[in-house]
Amino acid sequence: MDISIIGTGYVGLVTGTCLAEIGHRVVCVDNDEEKIAVLKSGGIPIYEPGLEDLVKRNTAKGRLSFTSRLEEGVERGTVVFICVGTPPLEDGEADLSAVERVTRKIAEAANSYKLIVEKSTVPVQTGMWIEKTIKIYNNRQNAEFDVASNPEFLREGTAVLDFLHPDRIVVGVTNDRAERLLRELYAPIIERSFVCPIHSPPSASGGCPSSEPVPFLVTDIQSAELIKHASNSFLAMKISFINAISDLCDKVGADVTKVAEGIGLDKRIGASHLNAGIGFGGFCFPKDLQAFVRIAEKSGCDFSLLREVERINNSRIDVVVNKLKAHLWILKEKTVGVLGLAFKPNTDDIRFAPSLEIIKRLQREGVNIKAYDPKAMEKAKRELEGVTFCNDPYAVAEGCEALIIATEWREFKTLDMARIKTLMRRPFILDGRNIYNREELVRLRQMGFEYVGMGR
Ligand code: UDX
Repeated sequence: MDISIIGTGYVGLVTGTCLAEIGHRVVCVDNDEEKIAVLKSGGIPIYEPGLEDLVKRNTAKGRLSFTSRLEEGVERGTVVFICVGTPPLEDGEADLSAVERVTRKIAEAANSYKLIVEKSTVPVQTGMWIEKTIKIYNNRQNAEFDVASNPEFLREGTAVLDFLHPDRIVVGVTNDRAERLLRELYAPIIERSFVCPIHSPPSASGGCPSSEPVPFLVTDIQSAELIKHASNSFLAMKISFINAISDLCDKVGADVTKVAEGIGLDKRIGASHLNAGIGFGGFCFPKDLQAFVRIAEKSGCDFSLLREVERINNSRIDVVVNKLKAHLWILKEKTVGVLGLAFKPNTDDIRFAPSLEIIKRLQREGVNIKAYDPKAMEKAKRELEGVTFCNDPYAVAEGCEALIIATEWREFKTLDMARIKTLMRRPFILDGRNIYNREELVRLRQMGFEYVGMGR
């Protein structure tokens, strides 16, 4: 099929590339000429495991192309995905001006039947507005179109895998034609009939699932839109729930990792998103939660449950600072090392990263900060002032009175801790992500480290 992707950010690039990988002809559009130039030259503007290879391969095969001309993109696609950003406004509501702008332009450029699919995370009822806008701005009144909602559930760091092997595909449609087209578009993924570029041959253990077809859930547009916000809010709620339990564990001497394991083994609850720590960040959970609360309020529904989820998450910064104070006594003039700046591992994304909040807060308390991240250093350098950025964790440890593990990068688990200990002024570890298991932390304590985790 011929597909246009409008907005080649994180979601658009992954969606376009993976759709090309399963056999479609895809053109990705972005008004950022610089970004398009990078993509045309074979580079990618973000770090996402596996993505660069797929972009190169599909571009070489002629299935994936890039343009900054929206008209050209719209003309070439039968299915047009809207993947532009919906950043938060001051009051937490999503800014839909980019969605509205590209919708108008799609309407003006449409030269034949188009299925317009909203993929950006949008408030419920945006589909209805897209449909109205298309009707008003459609230059050729006879060009037919349908509107659909097809929310994405991609996690940064595993986005390619998530796209190709989703738990489910949700489509919100208003008629059979749109449903049929989307079913056809996703058929290779639903039937798992494509050759998996990540694990070939596919294996259940390697992350590629077996032969079970992927559930394809067809709903009305409003329900599909709500599914996206409700899913993210529910996951954020799980994290805040376990973080609240983690505070209780600290008080009563329990181990939150064991509590999470115990409750997560219940199939009705599930183990995912039950890792206690310094809280959730990234560009989805914090903004989606805020937007969802605003949507609910505007519709006259009280969603104070989600306000509490936000409050607990924001309080994680205090929890970390208080743990430091409890051990270092006075923070002023102390040197603290921060390992990990990205909001989670396997990404260079630092948007709403709790590590950055912790650093800024400690700097206000007069602490000298040293930091390292395997991928996010360049972005962090643009965001943070007065931080000594180091080339590796050992350089960070040198002269520090505390080391905070803020992102659970795999490489932090295999550090030469004997060397770290000799480098630190005071061998104190604040494990903000509980990366060490029980045996490892017993060993650390035997080595002479002071170890403090989150809720254990
Ligand atoms: C999330 C959703 O998972 C995805 O479906 C949606 O499309 C976009 O938002 P993402 O933000 O990439 O994806 O990451 P996720 O792995 O869900 O983690 C989000 C944040 O929660 C990170 O800061 C992470 O460190 C934190 N987190 C996650 C926890 O603190 N504990 C957990 O158990 C899981």
